[in-house]
Amino acid sequence: MRIVQMSDIHVGSGLFRPDFLSAAIDEANALAPDLVAVVGDLTMEGYRWEFEEAQGYLSRLECENVVVAMGNHDAKNVGYRHFEEFFGMRETARVVPTPDGEAKVVCLDSTKPDLDEGELGREHYGWLDSEFRGWDRGPKILMIHHHVLAVPGTGRDVNILLDAGDVMAILREVGVDMVLSGHRHVPYVWSISGVRIVHSGTVSSMRVRGTMPPSYNVIEFDEEKVEISLREPGEKEAQPLASFSRRPVTTSKFYPDFDRFVKYDRLPFLKE
Ligand SMILES: [Fe+2]
Ligand SMILES: [Fe+2]
Repeated sequence: MRIVQMSDIHVGSGLFRPDFLSAAIDEANALAPDLVAVVGDLTMEGYRWEFEEAQGYLSRLECENVVVAMGNHDAKNVGYRHFEEFFGMRETARVVPTPDGEAKVVCLDSTKPDLDEGELGREHYGWLDSEFRGWDRGPKILMIHHHVLAVPGTGRDVNILLDAGDVMAILREVGVDMVLSGHRHVPYVWSISGVRIVHSGTVSSMRVRGTMPPSYNVIEFDEEKVEISLREPGEKEAQPLASFSRRPVTTSKFYPDFDRFVKYDRLPFLKE
């Protein structure tokens, strides 16, 4: 399957670059991906006009499966109300058709209103587990704005998912193939315990760090391998970012039972 991953659009910033966003959308349409994953921070302040403008651009995407996640900037000023109006549910699980079968794509809202920090929250663990455990029809993909592992080249590490340890343990336990995240504005990839954590840079703002230009990721997933390339909007040439074998190579085994570390809350709105 082919995925276009973009994030940190930041409409409303003085550093927003509409030309980059338009170019990235045209290029995404030319790539005809199975999934376009927009991993949060569409806006700067969560204002309605910012969401409206962002939706104006994203509605030009021709892909059948465009999934949009909330970012911390989108949760400012009660922006999540507008988000829901323009982009629907903030948390979704869907089955995406691929050339080889199907992928399960789960999108979670890691934001807290008016805070930059993110947290998945214990009340989500049971649902996350139930969506992925037992899924054997293709890739398992999680979309979440905040980073679950630190990203190099971003200065002092801040705002990492508050419950990153528990979340990583769940992702390993249920065998998630890939986590798509944004937030730090630097593209980077980790592979740990069989889970690939793929960060995209900012697609359309000059809110960049160091030498990393605005960019988005293109991910190719087939039976044998996973290849990730970096694209700068408007540039013809893609640059390779990372590649993996399709089946993760793990060189270690961890022995204690999972539930010695992570226990799921029992809540009335969760199914057994
Ligand atoms: Fe951002
Ligand atoms: Fe962010």
